[in-house]
Amino acid sequence: MELCLCCLVFAVIPIYIIVQLLRLLLADCDLTLQWATKFGKSPATLRGTVVWITGASSGIGEFLAYNLASAGCRLVLSARRESELERVKKRCLLSGPVKEEDILVLPLDLLKCDSHTEAADEVLKYFGQIDILVNNAGRSQRGVWEKISIEVDRDMMELNVIGTLSITKAVLPHMIENKRGHIVVISSVAGKLGIPNSCSYSGSKFALHGYFESLRIEAFQHNIKVTMICPGPVFSNVLTAAFTEKPGQAFGVAMNPNEKRMATDRCAYLTTVAMANSLDEVWISLQPVLLSFYVIQYFPTYGKILGCKLGMKAINKIREGQ
Ligand SMILES: NC(=O)c1ccc[n+]([C@@H]2O[C@H](COP(=O)([O-])OP(=O)(O)OC[C@H]3O[C@@H](n4cnc5c(N)ncnc54)[C@H](OP(=O)(O)O)[C@@H]3O)[C@@H](O)[C@H]2O)c1
Repeated sequence: MELCLCCLVFAVIPIYIIVQLLRLLLADCDLTLQWATKFGKSPATLRGTVVWITGASSGIGEFLAYNLASAGCRLVLSARRESELERVKKRCLLSGPVKEEDILVLPLDLLKCDSHTEAADEVLKYFGQIDILVNNAGRSQRGVWEKISIEVDRDMMELNVIGTLSITKAVLPHMIENKRGHIVVISSVAGKLGIPNSCSYSGSKFALHGYFESLRIEAFQHNIKVTMICPGPVFSNVLTAAFTEKPGQAFGVAMNPNEKRMATDRCAYLTTVAMANSLDEVWISLQPVLLSFYVIQYFPTYGKILGCKLGMKAINKIREGQ
């Protein structure tokens, strides 16, 4: 009897490992998120919640708005370009059960920190509550470490880090008073591993992890959750607006639709599942980038060696979807 049990255990363990490996290889997100898409709460459970999205005029933020509108969320759409936000609002109204009054277009510059409390007050005046803040707005970068002007480092931190912190600080008092809330941060693969030719960007995304991991623990007592979303390459306008090495310059290159990147809508859908299930941190990417998350998280020493051995050329190729 004992022998039979032992045989069973020894047969089950390898099968379990093989199944998990296959799931991982075929996936476009980490295993927990993959599980949540099948057995967890659906985005429809977010119906009626008030979600404020920064960077909603384009890319991931825009498609997040469509996904959340179909789920029946009430939305605040923020970015600098009001006309683009109005365009997104129109499409939201076509894609979901939401009505005109369920979507507030609120133009906002993340760099103008002194306007953020006023903006939060405006949202509260309109909806009376803010359930979820999605810190999505941000810019990427292409540039060589030693050639990047310190001004660019500063500008990157001002936007991706300080702007994000400032809007979060404007919303937190309300969430604390309300005894519930959810802060979602769109980080990146660059927030988990140092990406060559994007050091200021990687630095800014790593910084977000530090700040928001601290907040996760401090805010737990107030029933406020933190979800870190780490996408790999996704189709969007991020390359056009990316910082370079010189201050005030944008990379200005549009993505080629033939490149290997995740569809924006898929990334946004997976993000809404992570939100609905209040997952702590999720990894969203096509292979081989998804595997690199696992290597760096569970085998950090090998991850660093592999990064250097693979070299910049190979990493850049993967990153640029070639
Ligand atoms: N695409 C990817 O491959 C990828 C991968 C990992 C992580 N991400 C992250 O995903 C997030 C969204 O990027 P995306 O790929 O969707 O790029 P995107 O299409 O360029 O969208 C960026 C958004 O940020 C807004 N924004 C930029 N500067 C702003 C400012 N000063 N104030 C307010 N809003 C500002 C833009 O709106 P306005 O210009 O109208 O202000 C736009 O809506 C970023 O945090 C990015 O780091 C992207």
